[in-house]
Formats: sequence, C-alpha cells, structure tokens
Amino acid sequence: MDLITSFCGKVREVLESTENQTDIFARCRDLVSGLALTPVFLKETFQKYAADDEFLMNRALTADSNEVTLYIDPDRLFSLRLYIWDTAKCYPIHDHGSWGVVSCVAGVVLERKYKRVDDGSKPGYAKIREVKSATLKPGETTVVLPLNQGIHKMESVCQDSSSISLHLYGKPLIRRGYLECYNIHKDTVYRIMSPYRYTRAYVLKALGSIKEDWSAEILEQALMDKPYMRYEALRSLALVDKATALKYLETENVGEAPLKEKFGDLYEAIKKQGE
Ligand SMILES: [Fe+2]
Repeated sequence: MDLITSFCGKVREVLESTENQTDIFARCRDLVSGLALTPVFLKETFQKYAADDEFLMNRALTADSNEVTLYIDPDRLFSLRLYIWDTAKCYPIHDHGSWGVVSCVAGVVLERKYKRVDDGSKPGYAKIREVKSATLKPGETTVVLPLNQGIHKMESVCQDSSSISLHLYGKPLIRRGYLECYNIHKDTVYRIMSPYRYTRAYVLKALGSIKEDWSAEILEQALMDKPYMRYEALRSLALVDKATALKYLETENVGEAPLKEKFGDLYEAIKKQGE
C-alpha cells in the first residue's frame, strides 16, 4: 500500500471514531506531520505533473494554480492537498469552508492569521486585523478553522527555492464553490473559484444583458447548479424576467447561513428593481 493510501485510511479511522474537534486535531496533526516528513510520498504525483502532458490537461482545475490535489474522499469527509509557495509571488489572505491541519514538507512557510472585525453586512467590504504569525518547518503543524475563524495567509520565506505545505481539510461546513479572499490594504473581500467556474459565472452574468426568451431559458436551467451559481443565475434572470426570478426566490430553500441571508437580500433587492 502506498503512503497516501495508508495515510487516508488512518484519517478515515480517526474521523469515523470521534466527533471531538480537539481529539481530531491532535491525532490528525500527528498523521499529517508524519507524512510531511516522508516526502517520497510525492514522487509519483510530481512525476506526472513534471512529465505527463495528458495527465496535466485532464486534471480537475481548482481555484489556486499552486494547489496539487492528492486525494478527495469519495464521501467528501476529507481531502488532502499540497500547496507550492513560489518565493517571488504574493498569495492572498483567504478563508476555507472547512477545518484544516497543515504541515510543511519542504522549505519554511510563514503563516499569518487574521480576525475579521466588521460585521460582514456591507457587500464587498471587510475589515481584518492580523492576530498571529508563525513559521512552519518540515513536520511542524498548524490548524485552520472554517470561514471567518480561519482567515489566513501563507507564503514561503526561503530566498532561493519554493516551499511546500501539506493540507488535510475536513468536511466543509457549507459547500460554497469558492474561497473568500481579503485585501487588507483596500478593506475589500472578493471570491476566487476554479477557472471553469469563473467562466461560467461570467456567462451567467452576460446572459442578464440579453433580454430574450432563450437567455431566460438558459438561466432557468442554471438554477439546478450549486448555490453560488444559482445566485448569479437569479441575479441575471431578474434582469430578463423579474417575475420568474422572484417566483424561484420565493421557493429557494438553501438552508445554510450565510447563503440563506444572501438569497434573502437578493429577493428584497430584486423586488425593488424598477420600482
Ligand atoms: Fe489556506
């Protein structure tokens, strides 16, 4: 059995044996640290990325081009990912939909943690403050909490080579399909998602500027998508056919905050459109 398969089996055992977060963190920190100190587990994956064009073209794209997905549990209980921190690049401050346990595999990674200090009610605005920073060397670990509890930024502090970190993420609290990123200099928050989704979101927005039956039809089909795309489709549908958009919003039953509030705000905003 290879190292990743064996690691994932042990993680599953932990997650199936307890729901106690302290216990999960303690046991997963040991597992993640152990794997991080055995970099040969990356050999097969790195070989494919380095030399297999077909593999490269066919892999699923994620929001961050510096991410290498190692494993996604079929029941979505957890995922294992690798991040490569280029010394020359600046990476955004961001949140996650789930908890995470992180270790360093190579180089030295600096992690800064932030606290959000505004109430989140103003769209696009966010005020954050740095509360902690620490460096991670190979085998050392840190934990990340979901959403606003885990806003952080990671970067390499090596001058001459990339640093690598290994991330075990738990089951997302909500499946948003995007990460929220923060600009601390402009007090703004924005979303990043996979390149496929970006293009789909652009197309859904563009359909709102075409007032035809066929554009409304495509937008209605898009309402079968995940909540964030449904939100974009409804915004555009309101521009093409306000009554139909309101009808869908009246029966929208996304259960989880903060999406529930966002759909509620959208309903009120559309009702006011053109009044
Ligand atoms: Fe992160």
